[in-house]
Amino acid sequence: MRRAVCPGSFDPVTNGHLDVIERACRLYDELVVAVLVNDKKQGMFAVEERMRLLTAATAGRGNVVVDSFSGLLVDYCKDRGIDTVLKGLRATSDFDYELQMAQMNRELAGVETIFLPTNPEHSFLSSSLVKEVARFGGDISRFVPAEVAELITRRGQRNGG
Ligand code: PNS
Repeated sequence: MRRAVCPGSFDPVTNGHLDVIERACRLYDELVVAVLVNDKKQGMFAVEERMRLLTAATAGRGNVVVDSFSGLLVDYCKDRGIDTVLKGLRATSDFDYELQMAQMNRELAGVETIFLPTNPEHSFLSSSLVKEVARFGGDISRFVPAEVAELITRRGQRNGG
């Protein structure tokens, strides 16, 4: 069975992530979307909520599994018997760091990384920018699933932003 893990913070999932997930899950029998549990960075959404939003947004895809991980990605891959990481690449600005991580992961554990270029329609999108636009009252409805847009907006209002 061909499996890959698509790791990230997903705080929260955007339409850019979903585009990559949609296309990647056609290339593998199973695509595990793994949310990083980062104790040092709280984020806007709790990991469980990020996972719930991802699960809802990928519900039509039978071969997408949503999970979380902490520690090294290569250890997670080893534990699950997965040897491929799949990452979306938005622009050359992503490339330097992504290449470094890909090479480190291969050096550490022989885990290979496959890069999928993001649809140009989404190449400027990031979770952080979406949150910032929302914080200042901008319309984010075309950048994230409807439920996510509603939650970000509500959270921003609650925090007085
Ligand atoms: O969505 P992000 O924040 O760009 O995702 C980054 C992520 C989670 C893929 C990366 O930070 C990661 O793999 N973290 C786990 C810790 C790890 O393995 N670090 C060494 C990378 S070479």
